[in-house]
Order: sequence, then structure tokens, then C-alpha cells
Amino acid sequence: MSSKLCAVAIDGPSGAGKSTIARAVAARCGFVYVDTGAIYRTVGLAVRRAGADPHDASAVGPLLPGLDIRFDYGSDGQQRMKLNGEDVSEAIRTPEGSMYASAVATLPVVRAYLLDMQRDMAKTHSVVMDGRDIGTVVLPDAGLKIFLTASAEARAKRRLLELNAKGDGSTFDDVLADMIRRDAQDSNRAAAPLKAADDAVTVDTSDMTLEESIEHVCALVRERFGIA
Ligand code: DC
Repeated sequence: MSSKLCAVAIDGPSGAGKSTIARAVAARCGFVYVDTGAIYRTVGLAVRRAGADPHDASAVGPLLPGLDIRFDYGSDGQQRMKLNGEDVSEAIRTPEGSMYASAVATLPVVRAYLLDMQRDMAKTHSVVMDGRDIGTVVLPDAGLKIFLTASAEARAKRRLLELNAKGDGSTFDDVLADMIRRDAQDSNRAAAPLKAADDAVTVDTSDMTLEESIEHVCALVRERFGIA
């Protein structure tokens, strides 16, 4: 079975639609969707709860061995994050959680700690895995690498709709500023910065609807892996 495993790596900036598109593509192709951002968010939550500075490796590093971070898939197929046995899948989805995740993700000690957890999934399942360094670091041999992007304004507009739907009163300017700050932090960090792998296909979704984006990526997957 293992010779038949397929891996799709989807990287790109926050708000490009990676998780929504990756989840839908995985469902349509019968692959498992792995949201690696959720894993970084879970570390960020643990660091926040411990009152530690998320930028300080000497404060964060010693916390890591005491964390039990796991993910599993419910009967609905959705990835659920567990931190020391507690389901934190919702708790990690706040603007503050995003900033903590982005900060801890700059630390090499955190990236090294999470590497095997991500790779192990692709050893046993066909996956669509999304993140920032999947094609460059986590799955450098992925059969298909996609760099999914969109303009900062298009991404901020989409994120604002999501936040407002949850009752969060952020404004467009708040969301755009957060987006630009997080892009800079994710792209300029020394450890595994966000960048397209040399062999990635770039897909710009600024002017595509969600359904168009999903179909475009599905077509790439079908073509690359010879799926009918
Ligand atoms: O995709 P997301 O917004 O849930 O990710 C949260 C943060 O985690 C994001 O700022 C970048 C970081 N991240 C990363 O550095 N590497 C990954 N593979 C996934 C996420």
C-alpha cells in the first residue's frame, strides 16, 4: 500500500484559503487533510497559558517535553487538536492565538519538535498537508507542491468575513495590519521561512471563487497522480 501513497504539499501566506481548499481537495480525492498550522497554534496556546514569552526559545524550549500534543479525526473527518487530553480545536482559533502561533513558529526548537509528528502522517496515509514549509522542509519529496497565494487585501477581506461571522468585531484595517505583520514574521524568520519550493506550482486565488480554486487544485492533483 505504501508505494501508492500520494502527498500534496500546500504552502502559502495566511488567508490565501489554504485550509478550506486543502480540506475540500482532500475530501474529493479521498486523502487525509493535515492542518499543520493547528499544531503550531496548539503550541502557542500552551505557551500563552504558561505565561511564557513566545519569542524566547529559552522560555519555550523547556515547556515542550511536558506537552502532550496530538491530533485525531472525528467521525465527521475533521482534525481535532488535543493538548494534554483537552480538545483545544476551538480555543486555538483567535487573533491572539494566531500571533502566538506565528511567534513560536519562528523558534527552531519548536519546528524540530513538530517535524516527526507531521511526517509520520504522510508515511501512513495519502495526505493533503498545508502549512508554510511543507514543500520545502516537511515533505520535500511530495508528489505535488502548490504555493497558494492571493493579494493581502483579498486575504484580509476573506478573514474579516470569517471573524465577523464568529462575532469578532475586528475592522478591515485591523485584519489587514495583522495579516501584513504575520506575513512579514512568517517570511522573514530564519527558521524555515515561508517561500515557494523551487518545484511548486503557484496558484493565485485573488480573482478566483472558492469553488474555482478548489477545482483548479483538484485538477492539478488528478493530473499529477493520474487519478480519474
Ligand atoms: O495556517 P495558520 O494561520 O493556522 O498557522 C498559524 C501560524 O503557524 C502561522 O503564523 C505560521 C505558522 N506555521 C508555520 O510556521 N509552519 C507551518 N507548517 C504551519 C504554520
